Amino acid sequence: MYGKGRIIPALLIFLGLMTFPLWYNAGFAHQAPKPEKPAEYKECVRPTQEMRTSHMVMLNQWRDDILREDGARKGVTADGTEYVRSLQNGCMHCHANKKKFCDTCHTYTAVKPYCWDCHLEPKEAM
Ligand code: HEC
Ligand code: HEC
Ligand code: HEC
Repeated sequence: MYGKGRIIPALLIFLGLMTFPLWYNAGFAHQAPKPEKPAEYKECVRPTQEMRTSHMVMLNQWRDDILREDGARKGVTADGTEYVRSLQNGCMHCHANKKKFCDTCHTYTAVKPYCWDCHLEPKEAM
């Protein structure tokens, strides 16, 4: 009377729906952004983990420092590489491909920094 042939498929569909968030997220985890690292440099201005979590804060700090006092435009990485504390001439000097670097994460997390309204993007990205 109950048609076993129908209960099993219905059960499978139900299970599939219930666990949907699990396998849906698992599938997407594989597509986590892979920002392309600069070929010519080995180190960022701060340790990588710190950059991942705090680069936005650092950029604001650089801007404030530089606009308030003169002479704070140069920095040195832990391995002794000199850099300019600047969005265009610092970050984008090493991370020259905005699309393959900055944008991979920002698109993924749906962040849209407005900085490029005024600051120039590297040419490669256009
Ligand atoms: C001297 C060159 C240089 C400068 C200047 C520089 N970076 Fe980097 N950055 C690197 C390198 C090289 C790496 C990869 C380090 C590694 O392999 O762990 C990196 C890593 C990062 C990462 C982590 C990427 C990941 O894979 O998770 C972020 C975010 C980042 N940089 C943002 C910035 C920002 C924002 C600026 C400017 C405030 C900046 N960087 C300035 C060379 C630089
Ligand atoms: C490893 C991933 C990753 C990379 C690479 C990365 N960002 Fe970000 N960025 C983020 C995330 C995540 C946020 C949002 C953080 C938050 O909202 O707290 C963010 C936020 C920002 C913000 C603040 C924007 C806002 O509206 O609050 C700026 C500015 C920024 N990133 C600049 C850069 C620049 C410039 C580069 C390339 C040199 C870069 N980021 C590369 C992950 C990344
Ligand atoms: C309304 C235009 C405008 C916007 C939007 C803007 N900036 Fe700027 N920014 C400027 C100007 C003008 C200077 C001063 C240039 C100088 O003295 O070198 C500056 C300077 C800076 C500096 C220090 C000097 C340099 O060469 O980079 C940093 C760092 C900086 N901005 C980061 C940011 C970040 C990060 C964002 C986005 C969250 C942003 N700015 C958005 C106009 C803007």
